[in-house]
Amino acid sequence: KKVVLAYSGGLDTSVIIPWLKENFGCEVIAMCADVGQGDELAPIREKALKSGASKVYIEDLKKEFIEGYIWPTLKAGAVYEGKYLLGTSFARPIIAKALVDVALKEGADAVAHGATGKGNDQVRFELTVKALAPHLKIIAPWRLWDIRSREDAIDYAEKHGIPVPVTKKRPYSMDRNIWHLSHEGGDLEDPWNEPKDDVYLVTTTPEKAPDKPTYVEITFEKGVPVAVDGEKLDAVALLERVNALGAANGIGIADIVENRLVGMKSRGVYETPGGTILYYAHRELEYLTLDRATLHFKEQVAIRYAELVYDGMWYSPLREALDAFVESTQQTVSGVVRLKLYKGNIMSAGAKSPYSLYHEGFVTFGRDEVYNQKDAEGFINLFGLPLKIRALMQQKEANK
Ligand code: ARG
Ligand code: SIN
Repeated sequence: KKVVLAYSGGLDTSVIIPWLKENFGCEVIAMCADVGQGDELAPIREKALKSGASKVYIEDLKKEFIEGYIWPTLKAGAVYEGKYLLGTSFARPIIAKALVDVALKEGADAVAHGATGKGNDQVRFELTVKALAPHLKIIAPWRLWDIRSREDAIDYAEKHGIPVPVTKKRPYSMDRNIWHLSHEGGDLEDPWNEPKDDVYLVTTTPEKAPDKPTYVEITFEKGVPVAVDGEKLDAVALLERVNALGAANGIGIADIVENRLVGMKSRGVYETPGGTILYYAHRELEYLTLDRATLHFKEQVAIRYAELVYDGMWYSPLREALDAFVESTQQTVSGVVRLKLYKGNIMSAGAKSPYSLYHEGFVTFGRDEVYNQKDAEGFINLFGLPLKIRALMQQKEANK
């Protein structure tokens, strides 16, 4: 029997390897997805083998992650509960897809993951596996074993000769990739506690950000960012560039008490420096290029899209259908946005597009030749007619 494990190199997933072998008598293949978490990958291979994996796959998914998951979500403008830019949520389906690919190639019977039974991540991993390879069994050790704490895990590791990381563990549960970093747990579990400065691992605090603003220009083609300050960049380089700009200026910190899919609220602090800039810029361009009805409808779609991504429903027919709508709206979302970054803030500093629907001739307070103000009277009469009819009825009732 063969099991493919989503392996991160951390203590938990390292312990899962001997645990699977002991409890299922199976061969364990480790699959480590590089989604830009910034870990050194060579030691991870060593570690997986030392922990008892028979084989290790290391898959560089950064480009596919950005182009296939991040850009569609950005184009949709999807934000969960008004704050969370979904950095962990859309990383799970791509990792699970890679897991499935390896499992199919290896003819494995099952896949395994290290998400706990209390969180969203287990749902996202498993819904993706069900959607892509329904015959695969799924093993979630956290829902099965007796390990309850980091101490338990260290004990188990030591008994099984698994290398335990010597680094002092931060008190936070973290998830990192090229889009974001999340922090949960520790003193953050009390929502009255302000995050301490040492929570942040990439973003400078606004207080420490430079005292003068940084300007940046972002070019979009059909809703996709393609250049920074006029320089064409591939997806990975572009995101790294805006991440550096955002991080240096204290941008993209979100602190939220969110509703988990599995019922409870949890408190998270997120760093999404580049993503926050890109969302802002993308929206600026939509203000210029989308008509009112489309923009407003798209705002509704964004909320639903965010729920789908959060809930792990990436591979669902509704997500695909909403994508088709979003894609249609993005055909004219091309142009350049200039932003001013300053101590945690983003300010608009200009936008232009060949498809701009903004027309000075119509809106000007100066002489108007194209817009006949007399037209407004009839428009208001008909637009206000239901209000007038109701008021007449209410008067009649009152006088009865
Ligand atoms: N609460 C966020 C989400 O559900 C972040 C989860 C972080 N996951 C983790 N394994 N640390 O998307
Ligand atoms: C976990 O429980 O594995 C992390 C948190 C989450 O999935 O929401």
